[in-house]
Amino acid sequence: MHISDTNLTAMGALGVDHKAGVSLEQKTSLGIGGTSDILVIRRHEALPELIQLLKQAGVPYRFLGGGSNVLLPDGELPWVIVQLARQDPDIRFEGNSAWVDCAADLGRTVTTCAKRDLGGMEGLIGVPGTIGGALRMNAGAYGTQIGTFVREVKVFRAATGRIETLRGAEINFEYRHTSFALDDIMLSVRLELPSKPYSEILQGIRICNEKRRASQPLNQKSAGCIFKNPPGGSAGRMIDELGLKGHSVGDARVSDRHANFFVNAGHASQADMLALIADVRQRVQQRYGVELEEEVIVWKEA
Ligand code: EPU
Repeated sequence: MHISDTNLTAMGALGVDHKAGVSLEQKTSLGIGGTSDILVIRRHEALPELIQLLKQAGVPYRFLGGGSNVLLPDGELPWVIVQLARQDPDIRFEGNSAWVDCAADLGRTVTTCAKRDLGGMEGLIGVPGTIGGALRMNAGAYGTQIGTFVREVKVFRAATGRIETLRGAEINFEYRHTSFALDDIMLSVRLELPSKPYSEILQGIRICNEKRRASQPLNQKSAGCIFKNPPGGSAGRMIDELGLKGHSVGDARVSDRHANFFVNAGHASQADMLALIADVRQRVQQRYGVELEEEVIVWKEA
């Protein structure tokens, strides 16, 4: 969606950067997505006013974080994209607490904390995306989930139009799910991390990296696991047992390496990926009687 010049003057005064006609393909790890204007917020405090301006002008918007767990439509998108600018510095320490900006890269946060002898998040090292994205879905790997460490979150609530600070105990963190509203925008978080010697944390990071490299298609375009694991089961194992590695619709393809990773092997469209998801889900349902739930967040036109 294109923003008109009349709206832009007011946004400029808020310190919002306008990027016109950006290809979203470049902004997602799946490499799928059409084009839209992007509004980049430099100061969190400007967000309530920006959202109000967009609402008044009748401009639909969607917030995009690191783009590592989303499946976007092709063509001209019907929303403008709102993003947070990277802050410098994006992390501040107070004892065992780290205040982290939500636009910060998750992996880099893990290593920056490690250098301060703050550990616990080693399992999250290879998870792509931002801190905000990790919070939204309670990202996890190798027995670690980010929610465990969350003590406070500063969040813009579209429902109230205000920035609020929530205590960790007020937020529900479950397996790949949180109690944040869909239109909440996470701004910063206070993580409380256990003290651990740097060398020990590095060792843990190395082990997780090796496990990930051995089992996941890290050099291909994907959104990580496409389905959540069903209770007590493994989506990857079921899809593999069905002989579906390499199965494809257009350029959307079940990874040969890990069957719960669907990769963009060329120029896959959202429709290709959705058709592959539907096909695999139906086959799993038929064989195992299990209805797989998507982990990837699908942006659909209304
Ligand atoms: N398996 C197969 N074939 C496959 C893939 C897996 O037989 O193609 C088997 C494995 O041998 C293993 C079992 O299935 O016995 C589980 O596989 P794996 O250890 O790879 O873990 P996963 O359950 O598939 C989960 C997370 C990953 C996370 C890893 C490591 C989900 C949906 N996935 O994968 O997270 O990295 O554990 O902790 O919870 C993600 O969320 O995007 C993601 C990649």
